[in-house]
Amino acid sequence: MESYKKLLLANKAWVQDRLSADANYFEEMAKDQKPEFLWIGCSDSRVPAEEVTGTDPGELFVHRNIANMVVHTDLNILSVLQYAVEVLKVKHIIVCGHYGCGGVKNALTRKPLGLINRWLQHIKDVYRLYSRELEAIADPRARLDRLVELNTIEQVQNLAQTSIVQRAWRTMNQPTIHGWIYDLHTGELKELAQMAPGTKLDDVYMFDYGDEPASDPGTGER
Ligand code: CO
Repeated sequence: MESYKKLLLANKAWVQDRLSADANYFEEMAKDQKPEFLWIGCSDSRVPAEEVTGTDPGELFVHRNIANMVVHTDLNILSVLQYAVEVLKVKHIIVCGHYGCGGVKNALTRKPLGLINRWLQHIKDVYRLYSRELEAIADPRARLDRLVELNTIEQVQNLAQTSIVQRAWRTMNQPTIHGWIYDLHTGELKELAQMAPGTKLDDVYMFDYGDEPASDPGTGER
């Protein structure tokens, strides 16, 4: 049997499994989605968002890319973020990095990798920001692990720097932003950073909405 056919067969079994527990499962699921969480994770096949968090369909709104990056010129993530925050009104955004991340590892090399170098450039920027701390770590694996952590913390910052999040903090007093790390060797998630609504950022990143009414939900990136 060709490998991909296994996936289609597994789907049939999954449908039967769900229906045997609840005959209306899919009809109910199709009506609406009200996820409480936006998950921003790495595309790595070993970090499946729902599986590691024990969540079901309908619970997580998910965006994954190489090395769980929040890049301010990436229309894809900004669209996901705006929809999750302004329409779905998620209460929590989780950025989840993971030890052993290939994207982070490759960002530390001088290998020219083609187009992906442009993406990994953002991780090199994180490295430069923390180079003194990182270069004081002698063990290469420990240094990589620390860069994975710092990269995740920086993505939490990047989220808080968007006008989407700042407006939502002002008008809805949500979402809370979390930075987590997944350990491939143990399967465990670890909390690393948290930013509550209204957290003050460096002044240069704060938008001033002046007298704009706090009830204005806003309609997009400005
Ligand atoms: Co990764």
